[in-house]
Amino acid sequence: SDKAASSGEKVLRVGTNADFAPFEFQDENGSTEYQGFDMDLIRAVAKEMGYTAEIQNVNFDGLIPAMESGNIDIIASGMTINEERKNQVEFSDPYYTSGLTIVVPKDNTDINGFADLKGKKIAVQIGTTSMEEAQKIEGAEVKALNSSADTFMELKAGNVDAVINDLPVNDYYIVKTKATDVKRLDDKLTSEEYGFAMKKGNTELKQKVDAALKTLKENGEYDKIYEKWFGT
Ligand code: ARG
Repeated sequence: SDKAASSGEKVLRVGTNADFAPFEFQDENGSTEYQGFDMDLIRAVAKEMGYTAEIQNVNFDGLIPAMESGNIDIIASGMTINEERKNQVEFSDPYYTSGLTIVVPKDNTDINGFADLKGKKIAVQIGTTSMEEAQKIEGAEVKALNSSADTFMELKAGNVDAVINDLPVNDYYIVKTKATDVKRLDDKLTSEEYGFAMKKGNTELKQKVDAALKTLKENGEYDKIYEKWFGT
């Protein structure tokens, strides 16, 4: 975890899976400072609430359990709001609209969209909406891995035919790593909205977080953070 708050400050314990650029990641030179759209936004939300955000890096499929066991107060991890998770957690108002896309080797010609994934080997991150969607594809062999970095490595190694992952993460990966051996397909599956997740029943925190988000949207702070990560 970073930036342990000095005594007297109210701490918001944030859980993330910091392998999901541009939403949450650590930079290449080994800095432990967590970066990304979600990290800036949750820090701004915490500050608005009079708290300091203390960020912990957890496996994606360990985030909800970590909250249930009381180790974190809130999840900021590009987490898609869906019915299944709504039974387990309290979601904030949505803060980002996303969707799923496919990455394949550049020279691939037979996979042009989701309909072509039948019977293919697909890498996904464990516990994600990509995993859920991949498992619905007829005859597909789904490799569920710990991180999105691992899924791209499997693709590069030729061990899978395709990766399914969130659209902005696929695009950022290709641009940032200057990957020329893979491409992102245009076909987009689902429209998903990200929300911060809190412990089921913690409506007090949810109300504070939603109020802070609303203020940040009204005062231009949200737009500044959005521009920093997604602006052209
Ligand atoms: N949006 C997807 C989901 O909710 C993937 C999120 C993965 N986030 C991460 N930090 N690894 O399942």
